[in-house]
Amino acid sequence: MKLTILGGGGFRVPLVYGALLGDHAEGRVTHVVLHDLDAGRLSAVTRVLAEQAAGVPDAPEVSATTDLDEALTGADFIFSAIRVGGLEGRANDERVALAEGVLGQETVGAGGIAYGLRTVPVAEDIARRVARVAPDAWVINFTNPAGLVTEAMSRHLGDRVIGICDSPVGLGRRIARVLGANPGEAWIDYVGLNHLGWVRGLRVNGRDELPRLLADPDLLGSFEEGKLFGTDWLQSLGAVPNEYLHYYYFNREAVRAYSAAEKTRGAFLRDQQAGFYEEMQRPDAAALTAWDRTRAEREATYMAEARETAGAGERDADDLSGGYEKVALALMRAIARDERTTLILNVRNRRTLSVLDAEAVIEVPCLVDANGAHPVTVDPLPDHASGLVCSVKAVEREVLAAAASGSRATAVKAFALHPLVDSVNVARRLVDGYTAVHPGLAYLK
Ligand code: G6P
Ligand code: MN
Repeated sequence: MKLTILGGGGFRVPLVYGALLGDHAEGRVTHVVLHDLDAGRLSAVTRVLAEQAAGVPDAPEVSATTDLDEALTGADFIFSAIRVGGLEGRANDERVALAEGVLGQETVGAGGIAYGLRTVPVAEDIARRVARVAPDAWVINFTNPAGLVTEAMSRHLGDRVIGICDSPVGLGRRIARVLGANPGEAWIDYVGLNHLGWVRGLRVNGRDELPRLLADPDLLGSFEEGKLFGTDWLQSLGAVPNEYLHYYYFNREAVRAYSAAEKTRGAFLRDQQAGFYEEMQRPDAAALTAWDRTRAEREATYMAEARETAGAGERDADDLSGGYEKVALALMRAIARDERTTLILNVRNRRTLSVLDAEAVIEVPCLVDANGAHPVTVDPLPDHASGLVCSVKAVEREVLAAAASGSRATAVKAFALHPLVDSVNVARRLVDGYTAVHPGLAYLK
């Protein structure tokens, strides 16, 4: 089986390859094709993969190319993990927003809109190419903002594109752990949009154990989300939100912490990764060791500002590995081997949430088998959650419309309608600021 990774020179590719190396079953991936626009990054990552594969007799063969059609041809699965504008772009997304006093996070608020505006046209081009060159392939989208980008690609690929994120799984795993339940056996009632969802229940043998957690402040305060949001707020909500909801519920504090930080997350990662890729140019560099050191530092500092704002302290050792490669592998296996399983994925709504139309991509538990991912029926969202989900979906639709028409006015509308952008004037200045720094937004007229 052939797996193509778009953004194959990206820093997280060795996580995926590491997961593949542990799969020895029939029907596993035997050939990995890395595609990237940057040959230097491809050779850096290829070196890390070669060291990972040392001593593994059935290690998947790896090849690399900068030719997209060549990479796509014959692929059974395509992982799309691109970053349009690179980490410099991410740092600019943050900087321009903070200059206006609004949040510039990679996927949430103004930063997410800017990132979406420059990623959607590229993702749609890729989707069209896939539809032409590899119409039977399954596309697993990792590219952020993952819900929006998956919806853009679904307009060309239908249900053959599935978006993934590790955060709902991580959240479910943490809740199961504090409740003493086996994460593999618990049913997690989670729904929303990507980075905008809530766990409303966790059932073990048909019994909802979440009320027990919500009633126990000690238990509730003992894990990441309890520390981030505070036990009182979780009890008020009667649900446990995805960690990204921190940017909504504590927006003012998040903006202040981001502004006060010596470096924003994007700027930190830009510099950190520049160091790694530079080191990889030295022929004697120990590739895997350098990669692993860089990865560990990245994971330890994830969401550091949010945790600092909340006084949440260091990350739990158990939370350090995000595990999105595990979600991707589980999804790929379920489809390729028709092994029926349940995973929280980004798929088209169909009739799952009645407040959204059928084409809207949502994040929801899905049954997965050889026919793809099918969202399961879930209870409706409470009003406060529906409100946010509908507002943010409306913003995503304006981003898709702006990408399709190239209309600057529509881009302004996307920013202005976002609940975390508090003035139309701010939205106008954001469009000016972003178009001035991002070549990828030159299409907005
Ligand atoms: C989580 C999110 C991903 C995101 C990553 C960001 O895993 O679910 O969507 O890419 O965090 O981490 P970073 O190290 O880039 O800040
Ligand atoms: Mn994510």
